[in-house]
Amino acid sequence: MEIKKYTFSPHGDDRGQLIAIEAGQDIPFNVNRVYYIYDTLEGVRRGFHAHLDLQQILLCVKGSCKIHLDNGFETAEVLLDKPNEGLYIANDMWREMYDFSEDAVLLVLASNHYDEADYIRDYDTFINMVRGKKER
Ligand code: TYD
Repeated sequence: MEIKKYTFSPHGDDRGQLIAIEAGQDIPFNVNRVYYIYDTLEGVRRGFHAHLDLQQILLCVKGSCKIHLDNGFETAEVLLDKPNEGLYIANDMWREMYDFSEDAVLLVLASNHYDEADYIRDYDTFINMVRGKKER
């Protein structure tokens, strides 16, 4: 499976680091929503869904976590442990987030507003959908 990661260049100087992410320039979509996950408890695994029409960039801006990806045919595990590295995830990708370090802050930039109707939360439904698309 092709893993699409974006590396953002920090504007570092003797005061610290600053990363700017411009929609449509540094990432391929307009950001309509930002959310972040923090204070995760040990052993927590979350996500367990795919989207019908959503692009996202996941950045672990503090600490580390892992992302399990599944496109219905292949799976991958991606470690996010750099504040300047973003994982791009688009449609038709089952995702689970796990192995959060205690200090982890997972920042997500999303192309659309929150819409529960865009979620596929049942794994069998997801598998049938992506495999059905491939067979067509
Ligand atoms: P949930 O979908 O369980 O998070 P995960 O991405 O880990 O699967 O979301 C947790 C709660 O937050 C749920 O009640 C829905 C709400 N929520 C929003 O209101 N807006 C959002 O953008 C997101 C991602 C979640």
